[in-house]
Amino acid sequence: MVIFKEIEPLKAFLSDKRALDHSVGLVPTMGALHSGHLELVKASKKVNSITVCSIFVNPIQFNNPADLEKYPKSLEHDIAYLNSVGCDVLFHPDRSEMYQKPTTTKFDFGQLDKVLEGEFRPGHFSGVALVVSKLFNIVNPTRAYFGQKDFQQFKIVQRIVDDLNFNIELICFPTLREADGLAMSSRNTRLSDEERKTASVFYRSLVFAKNEIRNRAGIKSINERVVEMCLSEKNVRLEYFAIADTENLNLLDNVKDADRSILLIAGFVGEVRLIDNMFVE
Ligand code: PAJ
Repeated sequence: MVIFKEIEPLKAFLSDKRALDHSVGLVPTMGALHSGHLELVKASKKVNSITVCSIFVNPIQFNNPADLEKYPKSLEHDIAYLNSVGCDVLFHPDRSEMYQKPTTTKFDFGQLDKVLEGEFRPGHFSGVALVVSKLFNIVNPTRAYFGQKDFQQFKIVQRIVDDLNFNIELICFPTLREADGLAMSSRNTRLSDEERKTASVFYRSLVFAKNEIRNRAGIKSINERVVEMCLSEKNVRLEYFAIADTENLNLLDNVKDADRSILLIAGFVGEVRLIDNMFVE
């Protein structure tokens, strides 16, 4: 794997490859890699001649400085991990390389960045959109891979691809889970043993709600039961549980519309904020 810390040499390397008609797959990450990230790399390897993984902990998408401070880092391990699946290129810039001048650019996605994560993390998606746009311009990929775990993020990226005419195919990859259903996340390493056991409550709540929707239970009662399930676990604080339209993430208040919907949940286990979601097929 070739490692680049600077933009210009990476661009030159990739432009040589593109001249040879190579397709390029991009997997943007913030590091502390786990098997979920690796699946995105493997999916890219299957169809692209060159796979680029980026590792950059993007400061402007953290609305909570403590969360940025505590974001796990494991570069050595990440490099070994990426090598083990044959990733071709790692782009690992410093902050001063990605943000050569102070940035004031802000994105506004209307409703899409005001609900769910947007409500609890103001400014988060503007920061994501900016760094992903930068990565798209630097790498100029044929395809870019994102996880369903961050479904609202995927929708935001879809919006910038449409609005800014990026000629990139986006892939939304299914969420990889631990044996008890907990969605894999870099943040899971911050859970204590006890917290790790209770953390599957968000997954269990989604499975429960999905079954209730299939049985045509009312949304109000589903909501109440999910709140109860989360409250019954020690150290768990629910931030939101929502049923939303898969297309635009408009929140639904009628179970009749729920067939093409997605269930989304977020909350804290101890001091660690976790999110998850599930389609209602
Ligand atoms: P990060 O949290 O490191 O995630 C990188 C990518 O891995 C995202 O597309 C995320 O949805 C995906 N991912 C995370 N957990 C997953 C799992 N359990 N199964 C499958 N895919 C999973 O998301 C970000 O970084 C950043 O916001 C970024 C897009 C890199 C912009 O800074």
